[in-house]
Amino acid sequence: MSLTETKEWKPKIIVFTCNWCTYAAADTAGFNHFEYPAQVRIIRTPCSGRFDPIWVLRALNRGADGVLLSGCHPGDCHYGTGNYYNRRRQTIMKNLVEYMGIEPERFQTSWISGSEANKFQQTMEKLVSDITRLGPNRKLRDMR
Ligand code: FES
Repeated sequence: MSLTETKEWKPKIIVFTCNWCTYAAADTAGFNHFEYPAQVRIIRTPCSGRFDPIWVLRALNRGADGVLLSGCHPGDCHYGTGNYYNRRRQTIMKNLVEYMGIEPERFQTSWISGSEANKFQQTMEKLVSDITRLGPNRKLRDMR
């Protein structure tokens, strides 16, 4: 990585949220003018139970430097058990990412309720800081 590249590079990060909790927290953060890094791109889904492991690999392959999945706290899923399914898949996803030779920090998860705008802001700041420290994701991108 050249010096120029280091100066200009900013990570691209995809955050998949469930509609009812983490997306609501992002909305509340915006409503309350809690700033969070612009490198975060939010993709809203109905429920974290809908998250598909292939989304993580596809995002990393198509230019994302990091991915975060975030939904309602266990027990608070608006569809009952969606986040329990997600929680089981997270283990598989983490193993898969590591197996592919990708730094495990590039794939993160969290539970953030609609009333946790502060937690949302802090999670996004930490996420961007972690991914910035890792540098650009070249592993899957170079496989295209
Ligand atoms: Fe949020 Fe299911 S609705 S995790």
